[in-house]
Amino acid sequence: MPLSRHAQSWIKGIAYRCGFSLRRLRTASRQGSSGGDFMGAVRPLLHKADPYQGFDWQSYPEDASGWGSDSPAFGELVETLRPRRIIEVGTWKGGSALTLASHAARLGLDAEILCVDTWLGALEMWTDLEDADRHGALALKHGYPTLYYQFLANVCRAGRQGMITPFPVPSVTAAQWFALRDVRADLIYIDGSHEEEDVYQDLVSYWDLVRPGGILLGDDWGWDGVRLAVQRFARENGLAISHRHDKWELRRDV
Ligand SMILES: C[S@@+](CC[C@H](N)C(=O)[O-])C[C@H]1O[C@@H](n2cnc3c(N)ncnc32)[C@H](O)[C@@H]1O
Repeated sequence: MPLSRHAQSWIKGIAYRCGFSLRRLRTASRQGSSGGDFMGAVRPLLHKADPYQGFDWQSYPEDASGWGSDSPAFGELVETLRPRRIIEVGTWKGGSALTLASHAARLGLDAEILCVDTWLGALEMWTDLEDADRHGALALKHGYPTLYYQFLANVCRAGRQGMITPFPVPSVTAAQWFALRDVRADLIYIDGSHEEEDVYQDLVSYWDLVRPGGILLGDDWGWDGVRLAVQRFARENGLAISHRHDKWELRRDV
């Protein structure tokens, strides 16, 4: 009798803790019946307690500034894909996640947006300590960024706590967790590190997590690191790169 997806995911979790590598587990699950797609809500698997509970968001200023956060590409894709699950890699103060959430809400979609970010900043946020928009926004306290709390406050102020779930770990770690739990998404937005090897690694890690017919969307085509990584990944995998407003995208066949 074939195992349920939940059982497969549970066994993978145990095996992983016992020292099997994710690569071996993935190979095993491809050879088996899996190729699974967990359909439930992800937040209860990630957070035992509500991350927004008791948070004093009103003590933070209204500031969801970012880059390319209100692109029309988000609305178009939410309308076309009507996603039930979105993964964002690189959230910063939450600008793009909030745009995605407002389109999903406008369309009455019951969507879950999983925001992956360390909230510690990318390389360009640490290269110029005088840059108020980048390094300054990390808002270091005793040498450690507090940007995460500005993000939480922005989500609360917009009333999107029900839709947006933070996952505060490095992008590759989150992708490994998603793979272990068979979490797939209709739309994955890549806007984390812009360094070529990091972007390439994000593409390798997240491409398998895009549902058939889904889209992997990304920002900053103008950055050499991003463009070179996307071109390399697309070439190696026989994928066509297309452009939508200020974003690039890769579509997964149905
Ligand atoms: C350009 S900002 C994201 C902008 C955001 N999408 C917006 O609309 O404003 C990049 C973010 O990626 C995060 N980041 C960079 N490298 C990362 C990594 N390897 N794992 C997780 N987050 C990362 C940074 O902390 C930063 O918040």
